[in-house]
Amino acid sequence: MKIIKREILKDKPDFSNLGFGTIFTDYMFMMDYEEGKGWIDPRIEPYGPISLEPSAMVFHYGQETFEGLKAYKADNGDVRMFRVKDNLARLNRSNDRMGMPAIDVDFVFDAIKTLVDLERDWIPTKPETSLYVRPFMFAIDPFLGVRAASQYKLMVILSPVGAYYPEGMNPTKIYVEDEYIRAAVGGTGEAKTGGNYAASIKAFEKARAAGYSQVLWLDGKEKKYVEEVGTSNAFFKIDGRIVTAPLEGTILPGITRNTAIQIMREWGFEVDERRMTIDEVYAAERRGLLEEVFATGTAAVISPIGSLTYKGDTIEINRMKIGSLTKKLYETITGIQYGTIEDPFEWITIF
Ligand code: COI
Repeated sequence: MKIIKREILKDKPDFSNLGFGTIFTDYMFMMDYEEGKGWIDPRIEPYGPISLEPSAMVFHYGQETFEGLKAYKADNGDVRMFRVKDNLARLNRSNDRMGMPAIDVDFVFDAIKTLVDLERDWIPTKPETSLYVRPFMFAIDPFLGVRAASQYKLMVILSPVGAYYPEGMNPTKIYVEDEYIRAAVGGTGEAKTGGNYAASIKAFEKARAAGYSQVLWLDGKEKKYVEEVGTSNAFFKIDGRIVTAPLEGTILPGITRNTAIQIMREWGFEVDERRMTIDEVYAAERRGLLEEVFATGTAAVISPIGSLTYKGDTIEINRMKIGSLTKKLYETITGIQYGTIEDPFEWITIF
């Protein structure tokens, strides 16, 4: 791999006060795609601005996909990465939905390892911190017609991060969105593409202005069934069983969602991937059966939900305290990621 070194490295930030997604490392990975040639010119170069034509198709029609994954530093200095190939396989599913070419998963995995290895001093070590890895791909043809592009860029940038929510592990207040929708069957809801997030911002800002951390989306057709929470998947523990929305094309097939399901099934929980109405959630709360609600995501990790507000009616979950399953899941998943708990699932790559 070609590596173009920079003359002067950046100063490292204060790793004890990171927030999410504001600081970027010294280097980035980039390669280009041209129809007929495939992927060409893979390289690592200094992180910095790139030059694109104003007519580059991504600016006009949004052909873009991305991923989010993390690298962790273990106490012995090992770099540990979690389920990288699952993220890259999902990138290819998103690419397919957005009419974009596939990447070679093994090649990009190696490129990410090379980049992260070069930047290993940027991996923070304090609890709850990690190096967030953001691969993304976009259309660059200078062309204003609507069709699939014939040229793309794949880039990978790195950002040392702390907790995604300023609340950290304090349960969040969630607004159940009953006006706007995020996705409908047959649309792009299950693809990790910028447009899904763009479509979510107005509702998110409305909720934030009213003092909520995120929105819980309902299905796009009947606005009845619970789907996902902002940038993460949603789980409900009701009378000892776990319910989460099924993968039917409208929600993101979260890697952390799948991780949580596998671990909870291993622990003996029944996990139902099924449609559930918001009314059923409220009815369970009224009967005293709604035990825990939490969200899962790479950025959000396992994030407890303390209250839901739907059409002006607020319910508190577990008296706004983190539930024992939520806590145990958080500790187990992060334990596997940081290397303090064994990884029986072979999710971790060490280098
Ligand atoms: C992630 O959890 O990694 C995501 O990609 C969500 C992001 C929009 C913060």
